[in-house]
Amino acid sequence: MKNDIEIRLANLNDLDCLWTLEKDTFDPFKYHILSRRQFRYLLTKGNADILVASHDRTILGAAILFYRKTSSLGRLYSIAVHPNSQKQSIGHLLFYNLEKTMKKKDLKGFLCEFRQDQNWLSNFYTKLGCKMIAILPNYYPDGMSGVKMQKLFEKE
Ligand SMILES: CC(C)(COP(=O)(O)OP(=O)(O)OC[C@H]1O[C@@H](n2cnc3c(N)ncnc32)[C@H](O)[C@@H]1OP(=O)(O)O)[C@@H](O)C(=O)NCCC(=O)NCCS
Repeated sequence: MKNDIEIRLANLNDLDCLWTLEKDTFDPFKYHILSRRQFRYLLTKGNADILVASHDRTILGAAILFYRKTSSLGRLYSIAVHPNSQKQSIGHLLFYNLEKTMKKKDLKGFLCEFRQDQNWLSNFYTKLGCKMIAILPNYYPDGMSGVKMQKLFEKE
């Protein structure tokens, strides 16, 4: 892993970098990608947190967390590491910190989804303690199904 990766909450100064990361990481034919305006909303008014992984002031990855007043579960809307920086444990680092962030808010766990054709993501999430709870037919823009996972935090 790269040394000196900082994980912190994003702020409005990160808007352009977050949007660039989104476009560089997600194929719009396969994913519903967020617009710059949606990022601005999330950073200012949304019931959400965005965690960023940065190195030398460059944002290499981000995790977007949604909260609902009526639920004790958070939602990991997306987790992304720039293609040039993948497989260097930044995803794991983000994952560890997003759990810490949700626990501080007294959440009991979280939900997340991935594309069913991304088989390896099943291992990625399972190794991190998530369990499959549903298949979501026709979930992505190209019609691909989603796999819905849930992680419940152990009581400390
Ligand atoms: C998912 C993602 C965030 C993982 O981040 P990362 O920094 O590459 O992850 P890590 O380096 O912590 O490694 C995670 C594990 O997945 C494996 N992995 C990562 N990319 C992989 C790939 N393309 N194919 C197969 N395995 C892969 C690694 O080998 C590692 O395995 P290990 O734990 O057995 O050693 C990143 O691949 C990504 O941004 N993907 C595109 C966006 C995406 O699909 N997000 C998830 C749905 S929102």
